[in-house]
Amino acid sequence: MIAPKPPSRPDRVSLWRYLKLFRADILSAQPARLYRAWMAEFKTPFFRSYLINQPDLIREVLDRRPDDFPKSNRIREGLAPLLGNSVFVTNGEDWKRQRRIIDPAFEGGRIRDAFPAMYAAGAAAVARLQPGRVEIEAAMSHAAADVIFRTLFSLPIEDQTASEVFRQFREYQRTQPILNLAAFLPVPRWVPRFHRAKTRQTAAAIRSLIGALTAARQAAIGAGEAPEDLATKIMTTVDPVTGERFTAAEMVDQVAIFFLAGHETSASALAWALYLLAVSPDVQARVAVEALALDVQNPGFAMLSGLKFTRDVFRETLRLYPAVPMMVRQTTCPERFRDRAVPLGAQVVISPWHLHRHERIWDRPDEFDPDRWQTEAGRTCGREAYIPFSSGARVCPGAGFAMVEGPLLLALLVREFRFAAVPGLAPVPVAHLTVRAKDGIWLGLERR
Ligand code: HEM
Repeated sequence: MIAPKPPSRPDRVSLWRYLKLFRADILSAQPARLYRAWMAEFKTPFFRSYLINQPDLIREVLDRRPDDFPKSNRIREGLAPLLGNSVFVTNGEDWKRQRRIIDPAFEGGRIRDAFPAMYAAGAAAVARLQPGRVEIEAAMSHAAADVIFRTLFSLPIEDQTASEVFRQFREYQRTQPILNLAAFLPVPRWVPRFHRAKTRQTAAAIRSLIGALTAARQAAIGAGEAPEDLATKIMTTVDPVTGERFTAAEMVDQVAIFFLAGHETSASALAWALYLLAVSPDVQARVAVEALALDVQNPGFAMLSGLKFTRDVFRETLRLYPAVPMMVRQTTCPERFRDRAVPLGAQVVISPWHLHRHERIWDRPDEFDPDRWQTEAGRTCGREAYIPFSSGARVCPGAGFAMVEGPLLLALLVREFRFAAVPGLAPVPVAHLTVRAKDGIWLGLERR
């Protein structure tokens, strides 16, 4: 089965046409040659962008010299109203200190502790769904937001504050659609980035709701009554180097990014996975075999060992539809990439979207084939050219969490429902904050 990708643009277009294409969608704005190239250069009047698509060059930037390629300021400015100074946007010492406090919350044992909350969110998602035609992206956003609320704050999404944060996030996405655009926008840094009034308002509303949640939690920790969840863990962890904890204000920034990074990404991956299953009935049948064998009377972490194939399905989905399609860094000194001079301050774009479908790396790159992960060739490509969670020091701290959540929710959903494609409604991928479908992903659901 061939997994849909958006049409590419012709090789040469005018700057204006390019900008218009970009505004519509960052993926279809790119020429098809990026699926074969090792590197591409984009010239704008004020700076250069370099898309690197060669595995060892990507390793150089992400794994070997991350400090020399900090996150791009252009991206940081786009996210500032919502994320303030969160770990997603900081660099240098500030970022290192934040990771020292956050990382322990996502260690293996902690994910095991979070399992009951994840399971409860999965069961609630199954209970909310009804047979018939369903826009599955919205349903998966709801489910993934529920996972985050329950694991972070021990609150189900029915909670009033939780559902209000979720609603405001959806609003925020509508007003702030294309983030990575900033890395290509040919305007100089000193041109102020306009945040629409609506974007600022929703960001402020989200931050005030989160502020109330963290303040309440701070009080509960003080009174010795806080539940043992991720928020308590992060708020009580002491940085081993400075001996300090996050202040209440810092915690608001961090919680904002956990919501955003944690639910938008998983929702995108789950929705595409269900679409791929809907159009591959034989693969879906194999997931159903694993799902129906789960011992739902005794839910527990051990269930995951029965979901090996489902895990490969999720992994293959993240190859074809990497939730974060592009990442942007910038140079701090002049570099040489593939014998080409790359100036100081250039934008370095790493595109999991193109790397994962690279025609010179992957066998049948556009084909949905979960079995490839059990072959020698698939595993080798996986090690060299598969970075859905990024790589190196700035790797996604939620990767282990997501690789439990994704297969588990998929299995619980497939256990209850049979998913089918709706004729005439094939989704067209577009890159918003995450990879979404232009008009949603519509599926037909039937009880098993
Ligand atoms: C399928 C699900 C997910 C995918 C594909 C994903 C992917 C990524 C990627 C590619 C990055 C690096 C972005 C960049 O460098 O520009 C990232 C960073 C991050 N992710 Fe995830 N993520 C997922 C789930 C989660 C979850 C569940 C959480 C938390 C609960 C989370 C929290 C974060 C945070 C805090 C960062 C920033 C790390 C840093 O910059 O040091 N993610 N994620």
